[in-house]
Amino acid sequence: MSGGASAGEPGKEVDQISGLIPESVIEEVKARNELVAVVEQYVRLDKKSGSNFFGLCPFHEEKTPSFSVSPAKQIYYCFGCHKGGDVIHFIMDMEKCAYPQAIRLLAERAGVTIPEPDDVAWQQRNERNKALQAICLEAARHFYRDLMSPEGRSVQAYLKKRALSPAVCKKFGLGYARDEWDSLLRHLNSLGYKDEELLIQSGLFRRGKSGGLYDLFRHRLMFPIMDAMGRIIAFGGRVLDDSQPKYINSPETPIYSKGRHLYALNLAKTSKKGHLVVVEGYMDAIALHQAGVDQAVASLGTALTEYQAGLLRKYAEDVVLAYDADAAGQAATLRSLDILEQHDLKVTVLQVPEAKDPDEFIRLHGPERFHALIGKALPLLDYKLSVARAASTGDTGLDPVAYQDTACDILAQEKNAIVRELYATRLAEEISTSTEAVLQEIERRSEQPAKEGRPPTRTEQPARQQTEKTKQPLSREELYLLALVAVEPSMAVEADLRQDDFSPGPMQELAARVLARAAAGDLDTTVLIELCGDLTVRSIPLHDLISRVSMQLDELFGRQDIRQAAAEQLWRQRKYRLRSRLAELNKQLSEEIDTAARNQLLQETLQLNNRLTELKQMPDWQP
Ligand code: GTP
Ligand code: MN
Repeated sequence: MSGGASAGEPGKEVDQISGLIPESVIEEVKARNELVAVVEQYVRLDKKSGSNFFGLCPFHEEKTPSFSVSPAKQIYYCFGCHKGGDVIHFIMDMEKCAYPQAIRLLAERAGVTIPEPDDVAWQQRNERNKALQAICLEAARHFYRDLMSPEGRSVQAYLKKRALSPAVCKKFGLGYARDEWDSLLRHLNSLGYKDEELLIQSGLFRRGKSGGLYDLFRHRLMFPIMDAMGRIIAFGGRVLDDSQPKYINSPETPIYSKGRHLYALNLAKTSKKGHLVVVEGYMDAIALHQAGVDQAVASLGTALTEYQAGLLRKYAEDVVLAYDADAAGQAATLRSLDILEQHDLKVTVLQVPEAKDPDEFIRLHGPERFHALIGKALPLLDYKLSVARAASTGDTGLDPVAYQDTACDILAQEKNAIVRELYATRLAEEISTSTEAVLQEIERRSEQPAKEGRPPTRTEQPARQQTEKTKQPLSREELYLLALVAVEPSMAVEADLRQDDFSPGPMQELAARVLARAAAGDLDTTVLIELCGDLTVRSIPLHDLISRVSMQLDELFGRQDIRQAAAEQLWRQRKYRLRSRLAELNKQLSEEIDTAARNQLLQETLQLNNRLTELKQMPDWQP
């Protein structure tokens, strides 16, 4: 890769400026994007129970509406899939984008300008990249027009022969690059794009011996490559016959790095299937989408890159690999498996029988049979073992010695002892030996130092384990209290809610910020959600949790009940905090021998005991 980790990387620039969007601009963006109006761009809402709107959840498949929007609180929550948050989370969930990108989208929608960083080099790069994107978009339009023109008729016929409908061709923006040296060049010139340096940077042109530019793509079927946000950043072009090279792709450009994108991800990211299917080629991805496999993306090379694995993980936890049936495809599958596993993805492998790739399979056997194959995709270990078995099978049948050797190596990499034993039993049966012998061999191999080239698995990374241990959990009950207070902020003052009513650590830090906003008269549910940032409880994002509690409050409680519920929770919490502090003092007392210090500890114990007695009954502070 040419750019390496330099500033020219497209995804990176967005992240770099994320911290630079001023708080006040974020507030304005939120204020100008009324949640119901934003949601209605994606979901048909009905006003139903009480003050809330209901509709079919855009985040999971359902027949009866469980997706609710509160116009009063400006939050949404789905009682089915438990996603919730404010308008920014809605766009993040909907467009599957990061926080700063969601803000940018909403800013654009409401016509709010986000001040650009005060950095000349950054601004120049940004301008150039915008121009390159505009060039790519114009090129795609040009190719599409030509496909639809009389000149494109033979290409249309080709597409028909490949069984692609006009609708799906349009959806993917397919086009035709004419059999001319400067068709695109002239078109862009006529639009005012004359800067040759910029045109070269777009990757769409080459410089000839005489110094002039000429079109890179000629007489080819054109596939625009889009980033996850649907912006055209590059092209692939296929020949219309059997000549070589079959495909030409855009070179690396400031807005496109090979191996950093997944074809059709802009479409697949909104699929409700809950997993992604990864194929090799453009044609496979398009054929699958046409067949209703709208969760398909293409890696456009052979093996997946680290970056692509990370990208997949952003959008799914489960991945089905559906590479070509040939040796190259199977080799790429094996190489991709470990990369995917290292990125915490659950991988299964789909093998297309009686066809060379998914596209051909669907054409021969229809979509239904492909859907069935997805369900039957092999778990990682099964796939690896099946490859090992095939490799150890010759003309004379299975060579058990060779097979057990590779198979034991594969199983030695499995960390879960139970899984290992299950597979060992099966392997033992296959090669007619005892499970004990197989297990012993696996143990022996897993004790040996990791073989060269084997990447460390998750469990071998000590850093991750450590952070998990030291991380103190947030308390669900205490969060519940904060959610109640966000609905009735005046209670914070009336009940004299204090930071030390909450568990020490992150919970107390969060409470302190919430209470400060309440004191400033500036607390509501979206503010609470904002203050929660990306904190999680047992890996559930807080914005989901808070939205749930807040929305349930709407469904179940009146104002008075909310105050009552908060009072009860606070009372339980205070008792709990007193008791745990007392236990702490007790422990210190048993260790402390210095008389003065002991006296002080005893004094505090006495005070706390008194307060605990006072709290025997729930205080009657609420009006
Ligand atoms: P069809 O042959 O039309 O069915 O296309 P395909 O998408 O099935 O292509 P194939 O399985 O042969 O290759 C998979 C992917 O590898 C393609 O979509 C391209 O991205 C890439 N590829 C294939 N051939 C070439 C080539 O000659 N040059 C380059 N640069 N890439 C290629
Ligand atoms: Mn193919």
